[in-house]
Amino acid sequence: MPRDGFGREIDYLRISLIDHCNLRCVYCMPLEAAGVAPAPDWLTADEIGLVARAARLAGFRKIRLTGGEPTLRPDLVTIVAAVAASGIADIALTTNGIRLTELAGALAGAGLRRVNVHLDTLDPVRLPLVMRGGRLDAIWRGILAAEAAGLLPIKLNAVVVRGFNEEDVVALARLTLERPWHVRFIESMPLGVGEPARVARTAYVSNAETRARIEASLGALEPLAASDPSDEARNFRAPGACGVIGFVSPVSEPYCGTCNRMRLTADGRFHLCLLNDDELDVGGTIRAGGGPDEVAAILVRAVAAKPPGHQLHLGTGPREREMYQLGG
Ligand code: 5AD
Ligand code: SF4
Repeated sequence: MPRDGFGREIDYLRISLIDHCNLRCVYCMPLEAAGVAPAPDWLTADEIGLVARAARLAGFRKIRLTGGEPTLRPDLVTIVAAVAASGIADIALTTNGIRLTELAGALAGAGLRRVNVHLDTLDPVRLPLVMRGGRLDAIWRGILAAEAAGLLPIKLNAVVVRGFNEEDVVALARLTLERPWHVRFIESMPLGVGEPARVARTAYVSNAETRARIEASLGALEPLAASDPSDEARNFRAPGACGVIGFVSPVSEPYCGTCNRMRLTADGRFHLCLLNDDELDVGGTIRAGGGPDEVAAILVRAVAAKPPGHQLHLGTGPREREMYQLGG
């Protein structure tokens, strides 16, 4: 398994398939971002399969497909099959769920194991204010389709933002009373220099506050032992619940010291840390005919060059890309 310059073992590759989305969540994507058009520099399904083989050679064990919204790629099922053919079995997808109604069965058949579905509130009126363009019923049907297709455990991600959904965390947490789902609350991170980063900064809600709000309604949360040391969530169970409540707190409790991630952008660059701008091109090597060994060598170099962590506490964040271009 590749190690970076700070002794961290990096074995988890997150591949962004597309830098567009059919929603415009307030902390993620500006309203005026361009519509979806296939871009010539997006890596193809074959090229992504090649990167997955290289990642396997380098010792990676887990791949997650992200976006923007990865289900907007018309070749998503082919991409999942190409990644599965690499021999890496742990394949997950982060999505807003809207297209899962149509796709969940085919994705599971192609080798997808699990999904994280983004859902900020169960209130059908407030949902489109924070997940602009979204509708609760469409996302909910997608979640149920993923569950029926065996993409388990279902994990839901909610980014908590003041003035939009900070009171809605209790209803989301309550889902775990009846369902074996993981409901995770994420602190907003500012990426880029646009309006979403401004919202992420000014409407930030700490997970300490979110947890207090949940405990006031559901009772004290019981901490669960960390089963996966690189799980960025701190996990808990509400009294009598069958599901899990998780808190992902990159701002108030940075977990850079146990980071195990590398990222690949849709346009073929290894992005060394979500919250820094450093990148290393790999698409050019692939399009010049490079094979798995050459791609693996670039990946190992990318790992070696990973920065130690972020500087959000000093008020500096990444400027070059926004969240919808990196997929969390
Ligand atoms: N801060 C934290 N998480 C975010 N996400 C999107 N934008 C932000 C942000 N500004 C999360 C969403 C999505 C994942 C890709 O990233 O929950 O599930
Ligand atoms: Fe799209 Fe997800 Fe960003 Fe929302 S958080 S705009 S669903 S990529």
